[in-house]
Amino acid sequence: MPLPRDHTHFGFQEVPFERKQGMVDDVFHSVAPRYDLMNDLMSGGLHRGWKDALVTAINAPRERRTAGHAEANVRPFTLLDLAGGTGDIAFRVVEAGGSGTRATVVDINADMLAVGRARAAGRGLGDAITFVEGNAEALPLPDRSYDAVTIAFGIRNVPRIAEALGEAHRVLRIGGRFLCLEFSTVDVPGLAALYDFYSFNVIPALGRAVTEDAEAYRYLVESIRRFPRPGAFAEMMRAAGFARVSFQRMSGGIVALHSGWRL
Ligand SMILES: C[S@@+](CC[C@H](N)C(=O)[O-])C[C@H]1O[C@@H](n2cnc3c(N)ncnc32)[C@H](O)[C@@H]1O
Repeated sequence: MPLPRDHTHFGFQEVPFERKQGMVDDVFHSVAPRYDLMNDLMSGGLHRGWKDALVTAINAPRERRTAGHAEANVRPFTLLDLAGGTGDIAFRVVEAGGSGTRATVVDINADMLAVGRARAAGRGLGDAITFVEGNAEALPLPDRSYDAVTIAFGIRNVPRIAEALGEAHRVLRIGGRFLCLEFSTVDVPGLAALYDFYSFNVIPALGRAVTEDAEAYRYLVESIRRFPRPGAFAEMMRAAGFARVSFQRMSGGIVALHSGWRL
């Protein structure tokens, strides 16, 4: 049965677009203090490797000095990390790039951003990273202002995905790259059964033990199952205006990294 036009999914539930954001916000308010610990526990540390693949693809230049130009005259490499939560992607890109790398983290949830700001200060990255409360569907940012835009494990939480993709495209400079890391569809037969068992049994139990919120992690598992397959998501990126769209599956399809360019 197709969804009514004004409805979308919140996990396995069908909800009006207007209700989804509030439900998602409740999930991340609840898990914010233990979000990073849960990522490590749930994925057995694998999320670090997936994020490393995204950071490698961004390839932030280590030095942006050109012959005859003082460093002060060289424009920094700018990253926008959407739904950036506690700052993981921004930290990695800034640490991998040269001293001229700057990142802006946008997230709709003040609790996730508060954890991110504290982590940035602890790493001495407070000057290189700006945290902004905002909605990926309507960014409070100018056109063509970033060299790269990323979103990691965020897009499936956004009610109006097409609008968020359009905004990512709008704020990218010409020649800039968009990268989206997201849970995807496991197609390897043996692995699929194991992954389902782990997802529907172990993850909610872990969520209950660590965050006292099994429902938040049930939502996580269900929302992954509802997210479009890689080919369909690539098509949504093309519809938003991205060129040279491609994707790579990782870990048997547990996650996919999509890439597109603003040309
Ligand atoms: C699973 S977390 C991902 C955090 C981070 N990117 C990471 O990889 O660890 C999803 C994030 O999406 C944020 N989010 C959900 N809806 C959003 C929206 N419409 N605009 C911006 N951020 C949103 C949530 O607040 C949450 O911090």
